[in-house]
Amino acid sequence: MASRILFVCLGNICRSPAAEGVFRSLAPMIATDSAGTAGWHVGKPPYEPMQRAATARGYDLSDMRARQFVGADFDQFDLIIAMDDANIRDIEQLRPEGSAIPVRLFTDYASETDMTHVPDPYYTRDFDGALDLIEVAAKGLVATL
Ligand code: 4NP
Repeated sequence: MASRILFVCLGNICRSPAAEGVFRSLAPMIATDSAGTAGWHVGKPPYEPMQRAATARGYDLSDMRARQFVGADFDQFDLIIAMDDANIRDIEQLRPEGSAIPVRLFTDYASETDMTHVPDPYYTRDFDGALDLIEVAAKGLVATL
């Protein structure tokens, strides 16, 4: 059973913090973190519009700070969850030799939808739409644990 789960997106200020926030409210016994494949926002809290949309649903993201995904994360987590295929490519480039840690798309756990990735609300501006999908995927992920 995965007891340490890392959520990864591009900037670590929208999708992966929201995913971690929703997931940890459903499964507080699981250790979680989030990271971005890019380092642009390192040290910053989640994007304010994302925080507002999350707070409106009862998810407090204010303790989170962005960090960049590193190869050593493969040793620290049992499961790595990516928001889109580009995340997976960037994550896999840093996989240490011999590591067998699974990297999965978050939408694989939202099988009742036909979504193949979590659209980035930093670009779409649809923070609630992202949260709707994240809530479905988080419930699906919890059901596999
Ligand atoms: P995220 O969204 O990957 O869901 O955190 C983004 C946030 C910021 C940028 C890109 C994506 N950016 O280009 O700064």
